[in-house]
Amino acid sequence: MKVGIFSDAHKVGAEAARIVIEAMNGATIRNLGVATGSTPLNLYAELRKAHEEGTFSLADARAFALDEYVNVPEDHPERYRNVLRTELVGDDKTGLKDENLFTPDGNDSDSLVAADRHDAAIRDNGGVELQILGIGSNGHIGFNEPGTALTSRTHVDVLTRQTREDNARFFDDDISKVPTHCITQGLGTIMDARSILLIATGSAKKEAVKELVEGAVSSFWPATILQMHPNVTVLVDKAAAELLTRTDFYKDRWETL
Ligand code: PGA
Repeated sequence: MKVGIFSDAHKVGAEAARIVIEAMNGATIRNLGVATGSTPLNLYAELRKAHEEGTFSLADARAFALDEYVNVPEDHPERYRNVLRTELVGDDKTGLKDENLFTPDGNDSDSLVAADRHDAAIRDNGGVELQILGIGSNGHIGFNEPGTALTSRTHVDVLTRQTREDNARFFDDDISKVPTHCITQGLGTIMDARSILLIATGSAKKEAVKELVEGAVSSFWPATILQMHPNVTVLVDKAAAELLTRTDFYKDRWETL
């Protein structure tokens, strides 16, 4: 695991974009795993800028979402398919085509089948080259909440109260409007990606980042499974890095490798 510590969220976004552009421009299988939430927004803005400047395009790529809420109306702006459309789809964004954006169908009458279908779509299209991840304040990645099996595949789950409180800002600050269920790539599914880029900014993430980088592998801090992956880059700002203890070494490795 490589850990890069930057002064602020904008610098994190710029470095994340550099990594995504380099990885995707050099990839044979142009499949990008995409995250939602606030954290990747700077990164997506940088990718749109690079697309506008002609140095990056997802026109011939596929994007696979990490997760989706269950039973959010098709036209709701916080439905993750719609969030990702707004950020990435179209020639005025990154060139990604809507038919190449794969999201779990949270409105399928059978969510279990929809979950299996998303897992199969990733596999059948050759797997994910680079998976972008955020991290929840409780250490979730995707919507794999504490206690999720470390080997899980894409599945239906219940959101913790913590996650629903964290996400209430997207639903008029009203937790009763935040969905209770989700479909999420499993931890095993995420671990199949050939490389992983996790971004975390802000002090609300400092405990989760400490566990991710320096804690013991445990399903109670689901992101810690990434310690078992051979190609993970973690980008954090100073606030999210506050509890890390080996920062001198992370800096040496970052600058030397
Ligand atoms: P955030 O969410 O980027 O909105 O903080 C991250 C996550 O829950 O994975």
